[in-house]
Amino acid sequence: MALFTKCATVLVGLLTLSDITMSESLATMRPRAEAAGRERVSLNDRWRFQRFVDNPDGLSYDILKPWILPAANDYLSGTRYDRPSEPGPGSNVTFVQPGFDDAAWEAVNLPHDWAASGEFDFSEDVSGGTGRLPFTGIGWYRKSLSIDARVVDSGKSIFLDVDGAMAYATAWLNGQLVGGWPYPYNSFRLDLTPYAKAGDNVLAIRVDNAPESARWYPGAGLYRSLNLVTADPVHVGYHGSYITTPTVSAEQASVSLRIEVENKGNLTQTVQVTSEIFELDSKSRKASGDAVAKIAASTATVSGGSKYSVNGSTTITNPKLWGPAPKQTPNEYIAMTTISSNGTVLDTYETPFGIRTVEYDPNQGILINGEHVPVYGSCNHHDLGSLGSAFNYRAAERQIEILQEMGNNALRTSHNPPAPEWLEIADRLGLMVMDEIFDTWNYAKVENDFHLLFPEWSEADLRTFIRRDRNHPSIISWSIGNELPEQSNSTGTATAKRLQDIVHEEDLTRHVTVGMNNAGPNTGLAAEIDIIGLNYQGEGKGSASSGSFAAFHSKFPNKMIWSTESASTVSSRGVYVFPVTSNKSAIVGGGPGEGGDPINSHVSAYELYAPSWAASPDKVFEQQDRNPYVAGEFVWTGWDYIGEPTPYDNSSRSSYFGIIDLAGFKKDRFYLYQSRWRPDFPHVHILPHWTWPDREGQVTPVHVFTSGDEAELFINGKSAGRQKRGQYDYRLRWDNVTYTPGEISVKAWKNGEEWATSSHRTVGAAAALNVTADRTTIHGDGKDLSFVSVAVVDEKGDTVPQADNEITFSIASGPGEIVTTDNGDPTDPTAFPSKTRKAFNGLALAIIRAEAGSTGEIVVEAKADGVSAGKVTITAS
Ligand SMILES: *[C@@H]1O[C@H](CO)[C@@H](O)[C@H](O)[C@H]1NC(C)=O
Ligand SMILES: *[C@@H]1O[C@H](CO)[C@@H](O)[C@H](O)[C@H]1NC(C)=O
Ligand SMILES: *[C@@H]1O[C@H](CO)[C@@H](O)[C@H](O)[C@H]1NC(C)=O
Ligand SMILES: *[C@@H]1O[C@H](CO)[C@@H](O)[C@H](O)[C@H]1NC(C)=O
Ligand SMILES: *[C@@H]1O[C@H](CO)[C@@H](O)[C@H](O)[C@H]1NC(C)=O
Ligand SMILES: *[C@@H]1O[C@H](CO)[C@@H](O)[C@H](O)[C@H]1NC(C)=O
Ligand SMILES: *[C@@H]1O[C@H](CO)[C@@H](O)[C@H](O)[C@H]1NC(C)=O
Ligand SMILES: *[C@@H]1O[C@H](CO)[C@@H](O)[C@H](O)[C@H]1NC(C)=O
Ligand SMILES: *[C@@H]1O[C@H](CO)[C@@H](O)[C@H](O)[C@H]1NC(C)=O
Repeated sequence: MALFTKCATVLVGLLTLSDITMSESLATMRPRAEAAGRERVSLNDRWRFQRFVDNPDGLSYDILKPWILPAANDYLSGTRYDRPSEPGPGSNVTFVQPGFDDAAWEAVNLPHDWAASGEFDFSEDVSGGTGRLPFTGIGWYRKSLSIDARVVDSGKSIFLDVDGAMAYATAWLNGQLVGGWPYPYNSFRLDLTPYAKAGDNVLAIRVDNAPESARWYPGAGLYRSLNLVTADPVHVGYHGSYITTPTVSAEQASVSLRIEVENKGNLTQTVQVTSEIFELDSKSRKASGDAVAKIAASTATVSGGSKYSVNGSTTITNPKLWGPAPKQTPNEYIAMTTISSNGTVLDTYETPFGIRTVEYDPNQGILINGEHVPVYGSCNHHDLGSLGSAFNYRAAERQIEILQEMGNNALRTSHNPPAPEWLEIADRLGLMVMDEIFDTWNYAKVENDFHLLFPEWSEADLRTFIRRDRNHPSIISWSIGNELPEQSNSTGTATAKRLQDIVHEEDLTRHVTVGMNNAGPNTGLAAEIDIIGLNYQGEGKGSASSGSFAAFHSKFPNKMIWSTESASTVSSRGVYVFPVTSNKSAIVGGGPGEGGDPINSHVSAYELYAPSWAASPDKVFEQQDRNPYVAGEFVWTGWDYIGEPTPYDNSSRSSYFGIIDLAGFKKDRFYLYQSRWRPDFPHVHILPHWTWPDREGQVTPVHVFTSGDEAELFINGKSAGRQKRGQYDYRLRWDNVTYTPGEISVKAWKNGEEWATSSHRTVGAAAALNVTADRTTIHGDGKDLSFVSVAVVDEKGDTVPQADNEITFSIASGPGEIVTTDNGDPTDPTAFPSKTRKAFNGLALAIIRAEAGSTGEIVVEAKADGVSAGKVTITAS
């Protein structure tokens, strides 16, 4: 069975090498929803791609702009841009022409990030800021699509929906310029109807990534999903539904639904719009059971080429509320809207949503459904570690699941809109989201960043962002920006007012925030913004003992305050540098007690060290506890990410900020946050490891993180003392322990009751590779992933804490492939797709995918010289 499947897949693979079969037939593709009139098919598979370091086509945004800007019209309150009457540029570029032979280009599937599989550039003059991967250049993508004559003949509208493209995406169909959208993190729709024909069509997309266009690793290319939507000319517009729940109680919720009917035809049409509401099955994402409410028909008379919004409302009795896990349950509903004309269904449209209330209390913080929920949040960039920025549902879900295990209940999409599926995961798993749109406004952070687009595009980008995302119950706040250079002056205040007013026009149900790292209580920005969002300054930067929470609170007693960005503690998993500072928080450096190891470019995982603007978790916790009106924090960062390897930008390629490393292994800090964020979960964590052949007789501090309130440390069975946590202590520390080999163990208590125990013993030589998979059954859809971890263990099975054996991964049998490998080491120069990777402090990771359409067992093997190999079996189903 498995063999047969594999042959079939290979055959398909061979066929894709010919031009003819790189096409999709709309008639044969399965629609996502069995919606009357509307068909939505994925365009993710079977593209041809080529990257050019130097511009191959003479095109640029300046040349293309007059044809691209009209895409903003739907989102502008004032200015309108007319499309020039002449056909757009680019028609003479061979890549857009249907006859161009692209057989020599790379065959790729989307989502695709061309840079993540590249070599790291460790040249001396290159900074690690954007991750040392080759993201710059011009990328061309081509795909042929076959459009059924019936679609064209019946006058249907044909749209290209792009979830995001990095960057300055511009599309041509059959050699004609359609349009584009420059901001790489927003989703957009292009109308292909005027350019489409029955039969074979060729779609070509150009993306353009300038040097100095990002502060972190952006990824490159068609890094999110593309879909083709065909619909009756009269249909629900793009992101054309808006649901709110104006009143909510345990007995009853009112639901208001606005539907924007778009008429792409030439004649005025009168249609009926009705909606039914169902509970949403969170797994299948489908309506379940009978309708729980109905919105009676509204009639819309829509003239050709225009839009008309109808409003309806209904009530749901005994609503199942959406609320953040784990205390509340993230129940969801779905509205199914039908547009019909004289009984004929023209379109159906689905809007998943949730029923909940959010209050922003200046003295307590966030209340969801009336219950106070402290914000235990993290900021995260959009990359998915070794997979780069190409969106993958399972990789994103895994990131969020591991954060949730820590007690993380909130996420900030720093500093840009996420993939749409990412918000679906947040809704389903019950996280609160701060959805953020911009990192820059009028002024540059790097030469070619969004400030170049801001004057013409900020309104359109902001409105389309809100319209895409506003039905997600997970979103509790909109962030309009981060650490803007103009935050403290009148330009910043005026811009904040303009942007916040736009948000309020699009969605009045959520408060707006902005990340202020310098703007103080006397700035116009602080006075203007709904929620005071503080980056670092609230808890006090660096070694300052206290920060500005109190000053903001007394100046703005009616505004909620939260730390939009906190901590920025840096560490390398499993690295411990001696001596250890006796302070609660210290600025990282290369001197004694400063936590840095500049020779090896690592930072101590005692989790006490941070750059000059930042602080340890302990210090942040203390300032929050001293200022209990603060709603909570979004830690910088939950996960390590590619780029920004502060403090070793000159020698590394990925960050040290993560609580979780780039591969997904937990740093010690994970357990410090878990202690605070899951106080009822019994656990105790002890650091460092206890295998120090070179440290016999030397002081080797032992720190303990526990959700208990008291602990006793034992060294080789002998008590080293029992300690109770003081009011502003978040760890227990035995700083004078002298290392002797053997075992350290800890017993924790809470309220006098035994609570948890943990230990480390001195391990022997590396003997074997212990291989485990996060999931041993995955979908054979070519997308789902299993994350396979390898621990280098001694003969008793304990991880050898400093092992760096070179491990080679292989698929011993079955329809699987190794996508990438990683180990969480920010300095590792080995390219992500390499099948060989050194363990970093005892651990390495391989990411496994089953071939599309396959079933059967996949045996993943890991080998290294001098130790026994290990393997794990994954079943594709
Ligand atoms: C395409 O036409 C434009 C405008 O006439 C011209 O500037 C450009 O050089 C041409 N490009 C190519 C590749 O022939
Ligand atoms: C609208 O009219 C124009 C001009 O007559 C025509 O080209 C186009 O196909 C018509 N569109 C539809 C949807 O009927
Ligand atoms: C529906 O509500 C929107 C926003 O309040 C309004 O602009 C629109 O005119 C309303 N439509 C109808 C038909 O009342
Ligand atoms: C619907 O019915 C009305 C009245 O019977 C008629 O005038 C109209 O043309 C019909 N509309 C469509 C789209 O068939
Ligand atoms: C505001 O700050 C920006 C960034 O520092 C600066 O370029 C600009 O000139 C300032 N504007 C005013 C009005 O001070
Ligand atoms: C620890 O704190 C003291 C007192 O603030 C300071 O003098 C010292 O430099 C700090 N040490 C480190 C390593 O930051
Ligand atoms: C990194 O390199 C730059 C440019 O060569 C230099 O200015 C800077 O001091 C270096 N930083 C460190 C931490 O070595
Ligand atoms: C550690 O030893 C130093 C010097 O002997 C002493 O001052 C300090 O109190 C000791 N600390 C603890 C926590 O025992
Ligand atoms: C070794 O693998 C077993 C089985 O998969 C797992 O339970 C155990 O935790 C692993 N040990 C280490 C040190 O990773």
